[in-house]
Amino acid sequence: MALTIPAIRRQFPLLAREDLTYLDTAATAQKPQAVLDAMREFYERSYANPHRGMHILAEEATVAFEDARKSVQRFLNAEHLEEIVFTKNCTEAINLVARSWGSQLKKKDAIAVSLLEHHSNIVPWFQCREQTGAQVAWIEIDDEGHILLDSLDRLLAKGDVKLVAITALSNVLGVRPPLEEIICRAHAAGALVLLDAAQAAGHGPIDVQKLDCDFLAFSGHKIYGPTGIGVLYAKREILEAMPPFLGGGKMIREVREDGFSPADIPLRFEAGTQPVAEAIGLRAAIEWGEQFTWKDRIAHERELLKRATSVLSGIDGVSLLGPRSVDERSSCISFTVEGIHPHDLTDILGRKGICMRAGHHCTQPLHRRLGIIASTRLSVGIYNTLEEIDRVGPAITDARARFA
Ligand code: ALA
Repeated sequence: MALTIPAIRRQFPLLAREDLTYLDTAATAQKPQAVLDAMREFYERSYANPHRGMHILAEEATVAFEDARKSVQRFLNAEHLEEIVFTKNCTEAINLVARSWGSQLKKKDAIAVSLLEHHSNIVPWFQCREQTGAQVAWIEIDDEGHILLDSLDRLLAKGDVKLVAITALSNVLGVRPPLEEIICRAHAAGALVLLDAAQAAGHGPIDVQKLDCDFLAFSGHKIYGPTGIGVLYAKREILEAMPPFLGGGKMIREVREDGFSPADIPLRFEAGTQPVAEAIGLRAAIEWGEQFTWKDRIAHERELLKRATSVLSGIDGVSLLGPRSVDERSSCISFTVEGIHPHDLTDILGRKGICMRAGHHCTQPLHRRLGIIASTRLSVGIYNTLEEIDRVGPAITDARARFA
């Protein structure tokens, strides 16, 4: 279906609010009616606990939950259904890998992370270091946020890197690391690769088989689905060898007085009652997105970011972060404004209804690398318009005048 933005906007109830200009999709995306309807319909017509009963509702809920898993399998082009594990969010998916797969690491082992990473792809590895003694090593970037492949090669050459954990799209600079190259080099050195696709999943196609990544994590709420649902993809043979992360109902094969044996994957990693309505909402979000082509979506967002680049670079005192070429950006553009702290700026913009995020965006090592402590981020989604981007320029100029 063609990308007709006014018609798309009408599908998002929240965007009917005329007092708002929502440019914070990198933090969380708004929800189309189809997602809200799917969740409400489940609660109203088929609600029960999946995998836990023989009655008709339990069966319907099980089918709905497992159909949601199939839609994620298709979304990622995973080879096997059991490679898809539901989690609470992307952060929990990365923690699952760090606690479970990471528990077998030794003191001499290392996990390589890049300076682009969100804290969600750093802190779990520090926690893994505390538990196992394994090292955390940094892949360097240049001033525009490009991964320095030489720096990766130097780490890999030491022979102790067991995992490269890297973002597929920076939540601050909008830059995409060269994943195929990184995965190829990591595998050649005997290391696995985890992709943090929290941002990437909403802005372009993902094909885990083509990428050949070993793990990939993303959240439902950033792809127009609900909060409270995330996904871990892991290659089947790797997941099968991993111990459970959380213990409880449904993750067991048998519990005896002297211990337990775990269930098969993926249920082994889905302890307790799952976010069922959220999984159904995620399926609705995936299917809603499938009516459009990625080609059209990417072209639309590129137009928005081109306009944002031109609007922002026309304002005195604004410095853009990240790649110089707008063609290298997806999803967002971050910047600083001379003389105004990002929190003050977004506070003033917020009073005009312009919603953008300010701060370190959970990427303190990246901000330190860039020599700043905070920035302001404008991020776009499928529903944004050029007219919305144009509102930002005068609002920043006005804010600047107040601080002059
Ligand atoms: N990770 C989200 C962001 O970048 C919350 O805003």
